[in-house]
Amino acid sequence: MPASSAPRTLLLCSCFLTLLFHSTAASPRGLRFSAEDIDAAALPASNRASTSRSSSKAKSTFFEVSRPIHPPRGSRGPCSTLLLSHSFASTFNKPPITAAYSPPACLPAAGAGDVSFAVLEWTAECHGVQYGRTYGVWLGGVELLRGSTAEPRPGGVTWSVHKDVTKYSSLLSAGNSTLTVYLGNLIDDNYNGVYDANLTLHLYFRGSAAAAAAAADRSPSTAAQAPADLILPVSRSLPVDDGLWFVVQNTTDIESAPVAVPANAYRAVLEVCVSSHGFDEAWYMNTPAENGPFREVTVLLDGDVVGAVWPFPVIYTDGINPLIWRPITGIGSFNMPTYDIELTPFLGKLLDGKAHEVGFAVTNAQRFWYVNANLHLWLDPKSSVTTGGLVSYDAPKLAGSIVGHSKDGFDGEYRASASRNISATGWVMSSTHGYVTTSFTQRLVFANTNVVSHKGDAQDINQTIDARTEVAGAYYAQRVHQSFPLYIFQGADGSGSNQRLTRRVEIGFVETREGPAKTSTLRNMQKAEAELVMRADKEAGASWRMHQVYSYGASNGACYVRNVTSVGYDVLFDHYDASCGGASRR
Ligand SMILES: *[C@@H]1O[C@H](CO)[C@@H](O)[C@H](O)[C@H]1NC(C)=O
Ligand SMILES: *[C@@H]1O[C@H](CO)[C@@H](O)[C@H](O)[C@H]1NC(C)=O
Ligand SMILES: *[C@@H]1O[C@H](CO)[C@@H](O)[C@H](O)[C@H]1NC(C)=O
Ligand SMILES: *[C@@H]1O[C@H](CO)[C@@H](O)[C@H](O)[C@H]1NC(C)=O
Ligand SMILES: *[C@@H]1O[C@H](CO)[C@@H](O)[C@H](O)[C@H]1NC(C)=O
Ligand SMILES: *[C@@H]1O[C@H](CO)[C@@H](O)[C@H](O)[C@H]1NC(C)=O
Repeated sequence: MPASSAPRTLLLCSCFLTLLFHSTAASPRGLRFSAEDIDAAALPASNRASTSRSSSKAKSTFFEVSRPIHPPRGSRGPCSTLLLSHSFASTFNKPPITAAYSPPACLPAAGAGDVSFAVLEWTAECHGVQYGRTYGVWLGGVELLRGSTAEPRPGGVTWSVHKDVTKYSSLLSAGNSTLTVYLGNLIDDNYNGVYDANLTLHLYFRGSAAAAAAAADRSPSTAAQAPADLILPVSRSLPVDDGLWFVVQNTTDIESAPVAVPANAYRAVLEVCVSSHGFDEAWYMNTPAENGPFREVTVLLDGDVVGAVWPFPVIYTDGINPLIWRPITGIGSFNMPTYDIELTPFLGKLLDGKAHEVGFAVTNAQRFWYVNANLHLWLDPKSSVTTGGLVSYDAPKLAGSIVGHSKDGFDGEYRASASRNISATGWVMSSTHGYVTTSFTQRLVFANTNVVSHKGDAQDINQTIDARTEVAGAYYAQRVHQSFPLYIFQGADGSGSNQRLTRRVEIGFVETREGPAKTSTLRNMQKAEAELVMRADKEAGASWRMHQVYSYGASNGACYVRNVTSVGYDVLFDHYDASCGGASRR
């Protein structure tokens, strides 16, 4: 461990910011800027740009750049159902909002197998002053969506998320259930923003020719690529005064739930949902005294580590400098990514008819992480019992280190690195697939450098996460390579009554997926900068800009490229191309 003075460095930074921007009990880190602070600072900037389309009195639309989603050609629909409409006022630490769910009337007639595409739409707005908050949506305890809210401007803000939820088709059609939405909001004299939200389900169905073809095609590979037959929650049950996620508090805390798998399962995939909060909200910036910058969520089956999630560092709407994320929000912030762990090699153990404990821990955690999961199961239609066995399993301890050097106790360089390998192979015997061996392999590498300079006033953080996950099996082989580069600069120049606070962020979500049916590549990169000028301890001006390039291409010809730049609240440049004119296909 490095010099014990590292914590003092961070404390100084925090105090400095806390003096300039008051914090509340709702912001344990003391580093959060509120909407009020930000609008005070942003006002001079908007006034200068009087031709700006986005006057502070008009309602703003904030958005996350992602590719548009479409139903397959020839689909019928949509059949749209409003699932819930609610105003989230003082909801923090209160029971979540629930609504009875019945499969939409258009669904039973067609049946789950005829759903070609399902979209969950979250549309919300907020007026007044409010922090960004985290919310989650669950159906029967299965998480469908998690996001952070947009912080409002005086004229109000609106945003929406369209998430492809086709893979939850069996759950959507399974029968009556409970829809749960938690959005922990606080209202007081200063923070009066209420979040009004609507949740709508849009269903599309196969055209008759496609439905007939699907019914005729009972091939094992088609079955393996279809949505799961059953999805079980690994989350908390109602009643709770919070979301249904488990709250992981520290590095030794293991949160778990028992799960019983039907006797005829032949494939199992655990979809893990994670988000970081409180003292770990910006875990990638943490000093050695704050357990360093490395975090991983481990998945335990009856106490054994069977998979690990090295999360993408989602920066919420209040992160680093909230202006940066207006109007283009951080990657994953409105629609957080989830992570799949293949449990098929362990089916031999799970198929014994007994309940098994599925647990989650967060290495190096500080208070607190929200973690839960959905277990996707494929069931053998032709037999009531499948069998399986584990062939090999190897999950050596995490390798890693934190090294730091500081000459004066303020400035210095801290390096953290970690790596982990997990592999498991197992067989399953089913009538659908016969005898199939499946291997699951993870190769994970992490590196973080934090250079502190100018007597603790400047920090340069470079982080890379490189995660390779491979499933090798006859019908559902998949190779996923994710790489998450992150660069953050925070600095303060000037002295006394004149200060300039600079923030720079470069972040990327880069992913290649190679499956039996298609290969796809996504490169989603953001580069942003914000500057706040302070005179005599008052915000005298603010400026910020964002440049994002989103580029997706798949072997089935699908393609989407978008190149967008915003300065202040204005989108200056927004080009997208869904045909790609051959340019994106090299
Ligand atoms: C929610 O739906 C209702 C009814 O259609 C509509 O009046 C309201 O404006 C919607 N709210 C949002 C935030 O979209
Ligand atoms: C499901 O809920 C609907 C609407 O409340 C109700 O009419 C129906 O009887 C319920 N079905 C079952 C099987 O409980
Ligand atoms: C870690 O968190 C758990 C669950 O809240 C708690 O019981 C335990 O005392 C904590 N351990 C430490 C060392 O703080
Ligand atoms: C993980 O596996 C790779 C490839 O086999 C190996 O080079 C690396 O040293 C392993 N790392 C750890 C931490 O075991
Ligand atoms: C950190 O990242 C920036 C931007 O990519 C790069 O210019 C710089 O050289 C990196 N610094 C280190 C120490 O790796
Ligand atoms: C995005 O657009 C800008 C402005 O035309 C251009 O300079 C830049 O090269 C484009 N970037 C990409 C990756 O297409």
